Amino acid sequence: MNILVTGATGNVGREVIQLLVADGHEVTAGSRNSDFDAGGTAIAAQLDFTRGIAPPAEFDAIFLMRPPQLADPEIFRQFLENYPRETLIVFLSVQGADTKTYLPHAKIEKVITKLGFRHVFVRPSYFMDNLLTTLWPELVQNHRIYLPAGNLKLDWVSVADVAAVCANALSGKFAIPAVSVCSGALKGFTEVCLTINRIAGTRISYERASLPGFVWYLRKTGNTWTYIGVMLLLHFFPRFERATPTSSDTTRAVLGRQPETLEAFIRRNKLRFKKLA
Ligand SMILES: NC(=O)c1ccc[n+]([C@@H]2O[C@H](COP(=O)([O-])OP(=O)(O)OC[C@H]3O[C@@H](n4cnc5c(N)ncnc54)[C@H](OP(=O)(O)O)[C@@H]3O)[C@@H](O)[C@H]2O)c1
Repeated sequence: MNILVTGATGNVGREVIQLLVADGHEVTAGSRNSDFDAGGTAIAAQLDFTRGIAPPAEFDAIFLMRPPQLADPEIFRQFLENYPRETLIVFLSVQGADTKTYLPHAKIEKVITKLGFRHVFVRPSYFMDNLLTTLWPELVQNHRIYLPAGNLKLDWVSVADVAAVCANALSGKFAIPAVSVCSGALKGFTEVCLTINRIAGTRISYERASLPGFVWYLRKTGNTWTYIGVMLLLHFFPRFERATPTSSDTTRAVLGRQPETLEAFIRRNKLRFKKLA
């Protein structure tokens, strides 16, 4: 199949490309910088949602992701209008987009549906890989996870599993219009730190931040208001929602195996976590 991957340099896009190339698909990898190494046999193409730059070719399927700084659904409507409606759109959405209509992902899902595309909305829970990306600098510098998350428990899922579900959807291995991707186990940040310490021999801890303290700290360390908004959306506001138990049954069905556990993820990345010791 001929497949376009947006966000090709991102956490999920990179892994989706590897899986599709290994499966023998013809992959076009979209980035704002067309000069990047797309990896394997993928073809690099310039793609910028905000500047209206998109590969003109027709594709059997498109992996669509929302860069975290883009919230306006109109940008995605304009991008999608370039493509025939028979194209399968696999959209990297987020858990809860079906009920929380204020989420940018929910608005983009609506755009895709309204335009009449065949689609799969992939709705993952919280990425385990955040430990190695957004949460990593604070872990390196101060050996702590510092968030206004209180006792919030999240379902943690690996990007490897999210990418595998997306790749299976793109290549037509299943055709469910919306699928939630999760590991089925709720864990708080203290428990996560203790698990990392046990496996990697580190001494990291979770420090509960107050809301003003957290915002002040992020501003002091040079972060944008957009970034702060995303961090609060992920770690503060969910505290006020009723925690619903998650089930990994659908994830298991569309993956064709059990999703990765947090412990297995930490073991797979043990050498990286050991750097915190
Ligand atoms: N983190 C979580 O726990 C979590 C959970 C569920 C869902 N999600 C969702 O997953 C998505 C993030 O995925 P990710 O982690 O793979 O992304 P990411 O690693 O943050 O990468 C962002 C990607 O967006 C591309 N990009 C930025 N601006 C662009 C523009 N104007 N036009 C085209 N491409 C642009 C970047 O590519 P270039 O710089 O090369 O152009 C990069 O590949 C978000 O929508 C997030 O809400 C995240």
